[in-house]
Amino acid sequence: MSPAPIAPAEYRQRRETLMARLGQGSAIFQSAPTAVMHNDVEYVFRQDSDFYYLTGFNEPEAVAVLAPWHEEHRFILFVQPKDLEKETWTGFRYGVEGVTEHFGADIAYSITELEEKLPQYLAKADRIYYHLGRDHHFNDTVIRHWQKLMAAYPRQGTGPRALENPHHLLHPLRQVKSAAELSLVREACRISSEAHNRARSFARPGLYEYQIQAEIEHTFRLQGGMGPAYPSIVAAGSNACVLHYVNNNTQLQAGDLLLIDAGCAYDYYNGDITRAFPVGGRFTPEQKIIYELALEAQKQAIAEVKPGNPYNQFHDRAVRVIVEGLLDLGLLAGDPEEIIKEEKYKPFYMHRTGHWLGLDVHDAGAYKVDEETWQTLQPGNVLTVEPGIYISPDIKPAEGQPEVPTQWRGVGVRIEDDVLVTETGNEVLTAGVPKEVADLESL
Ligand code: GLY
Ligand code: MN
Ligand code: MN
Repeated sequence: MSPAPIAPAEYRQRRETLMARLGQGSAIFQSAPTAVMHNDVEYVFRQDSDFYYLTGFNEPEAVAVLAPWHEEHRFILFVQPKDLEKETWTGFRYGVEGVTEHFGADIAYSITELEEKLPQYLAKADRIYYHLGRDHHFNDTVIRHWQKLMAAYPRQGTGPRALENPHHLLHPLRQVKSAAELSLVREACRISSEAHNRARSFARPGLYEYQIQAEIEHTFRLQGGMGPAYPSIVAAGSNACVLHYVNNNTQLQAGDLLLIDAGCAYDYYNGDITRAFPVGGRFTPEQKIIYELALEAQKQAIAEVKPGNPYNQFHDRAVRVIVEGLLDLGLLAGDPEEIIKEEKYKPFYMHRTGHWLGLDVHDAGAYKVDEETWQTLQPGNVLTVEPGIYISPDIKPAEGQPEVPTQWRGVGVRIEDDVLVTETGNEVLTAGVPKEVADLESL
């Protein structure tokens, strides 16, 4: 059964929690822009994640204002008005009446009234919370209203004296997933897992990477997902050493490792899974050694994902396992502490071991609380654990490190799972996709 969408009461609770943090401030959030694919054809609309988190409203051309100090209207929406002729072309709009009824706004206006109506929701705020984003026109609108209110300040004795980014107040909320959010994340992970399993059973020498991609993305839509959460990476052989490889147009050869990094979006929540497996059913000795090292790094890293641990601990663990393994293989040489400190492993492992996961694939929320201190993991956090080892055909060792012998070159491995921090440790949400060598070879 499909998980329930987030209830209006939960959106209201999120706004209340944020408003308690705004104090006497007012916050402004804008919907995402529409984007042109070519000429007059647009990409499918994708709502801004902050806006969606607070409203659940999925239309463009909208602005939400939170004004906790206002006596009558604390949640205000500006939206596209009903227009039956336009709706014939671009689809249903809730309109001004619809959003007060369905989205809990205290009052709604047409977006065309923004200029006139916005100032009353800022005038008595002590600051405006607004993220200066890519829409320079709207940035200018907010700044212009702020300037006008500041010009009136000496006579009024009140007004927003500061413009402040709201992310440090909002994103800690997004970092801890509610039960309803977790159902959606689980569904995104379930569909993403099924797609990986289907792709693995379909892959064989002679097919092209895009045909594997088609199997994956077919499953995403067939199972009710919105589609890929990010461009699917299907990378055979040394293509796996290109981190964001998306051409997906190479023919699979027997003996290739095939790396697939793909996940689907479900109601805007995302899965993000990577697996690598041998196309012909058997790892070469070098592929197997590198794969098992990456797997060991991933398992040990996952064991570090538990409440109370600093965010970087699982990354540090993965780096240490990889460095010690590469030293044993003679692919690195010297003192492990120095290799780690001077990042001499980076020609093999150049990215971090994970990221927050949620409404954005690289989800909102700080990784550090100050220059020295990492965020502490807490129950309800969802993150990826994704170490990799990439031995590009033209890998350049770090200074003083050995040249990489030919037989290792062209092997690229990443293993990525989505992990929920629980009260007692963690739960791997994507455990349904095999990653043990024995399971990958027994095909
Ligand atoms: N697929 C994007 C990532 O793994 O971060
Ligand atoms: Mn990832
Ligand atoms: Mn990924």
